[in-house]
Amino acid sequence: MKKQLSDSFSIRNTTIRNRICVPPMVIYNWSDGSGYVDDKHVEHYRRLARGGAGLIIQEATCVTEEGKLAQTQLGIWEDGQIEGLRRITDAVHAEGCPIFVQIHHAGIVGIAQHALCPSAYVLGDKTGVEMSVEQIHTMQQAFISAARRAYQAGYDGVELHGCHRYLMCQFFNSRVNTRTDTYGTHPEQFVLEILDGIRKIVPEDFVVGIRLGAFEPTLQDGIRHAKILEEHGIDFLDISYGFTEEQEAEKPADFPYKDIIYAAGEIKKQVSVPVFAVNGIRVPEDARGALELTDVDMIDVGRSSLANPEWASDALAGRKADKCVDCSVCQWRINPDRCAGRLLHEKRQK
Ligand SMILES: Cc1cc2nc3c(=O)[nH]c(=O)nc-3n(C[C@H](O)[C@H](O)[C@H](O)COP(=O)(O)O)c2cc1C
Ligand code: SF4
Repeated sequence: MKKQLSDSFSIRNTTIRNRICVPPMVIYNWSDGSGYVDDKHVEHYRRLARGGAGLIIQEATCVTEEGKLAQTQLGIWEDGQIEGLRRITDAVHAEGCPIFVQIHHAGIVGIAQHALCPSAYVLGDKTGVEMSVEQIHTMQQAFISAARRAYQAGYDGVELHGCHRYLMCQFFNSRVNTRTDTYGTHPEQFVLEILDGIRKIVPEDFVVGIRLGAFEPTLQDGIRHAKILEEHGIDFLDISYGFTEEQEAEKPADFPYKDIIYAAGEIKKQVSVPVFAVNGIRVPEDARGALELTDVDMIDVGRSSLANPEWASDALAGRKADKCVDCSVCQWRINPDRCAGRLLHEKRQK
């Protein structure tokens, strides 16, 4: 039977009330550099949850202070941060919505001057510092401890940030990761050991998924990584772009959505864990169409949920949903008050 946007389903014991997910989206300048949660984060996630999404995945939240993507990124690297994060999970749960947190390390893309990377890869004016095996083990422990904090803060699960050029993604892509040891010959090894470490310290119902690059560098590589992760017990695969400088993206000429949504559908054919698809979904008809065409389990609606936090309830009620108007540069990272889509949505609500 065809899936409907309004269908509920479960991942482990987490019930997800419909097929619309708000994917992780960082907002800078609400935290003060300490990585601690501000009231604005709490209200932002409360409103998204009230807006009817089936699941929220909280923005990339850094596992070490050195691994930050921006000075004011949220953090989950010390126990003191748990209390603030708990305020977000309480607010979201009170609206009947589960929440996972995306745990993240930027690697070579981060602000650290001597940024870590599996190999000495050159990106722009930066050369990644090749990680020693000891540094790899320390980093794995940072992800494992972050997952423990996520559990203590009340999240229903974590999403490992394994795409968009960041550290885990750098391990997956064989054109970036040219190591000759086991972390290079088995590029998924870095993540599998983290997954094992997390499973040992959290209860069975805690969800551990990954945002994974599909073209890493080719779709065949993405499919292989997905299958290995499934065999190793990953709970869901949220498919996005990988290391974009080193990817070979593809889709058939007549596929009506983004290549990455096509890729999510191809991965879905090969695995039985839930697969999420993302990118460029603006109107409810597209969410329904992509769900039907790819048979994935969840449709991520990113920027349109920022512009219209009630996008999910509009879509589920069959209403026309206000949407992102595709500014040349999305303002949310810098100054959400300048979001043209949100300003329009608020004007219409008055
Ligand atoms: C402001 C902003 C922040 C983002 N931050 C993250 C992030 O923290 N983690 C992540 O995996 N993707 C991040 N993304 C990517 C989105 O999750 C999503 O994949 C992308 O926006 C495409 O989906 P959309 O067309 O529905 O917006 C971000 C995107 C935007 C616009
Ligand atoms: S309308 Fe502009 S600022 Fe708002 S979400 Fe879309 S691109 Fe970002």
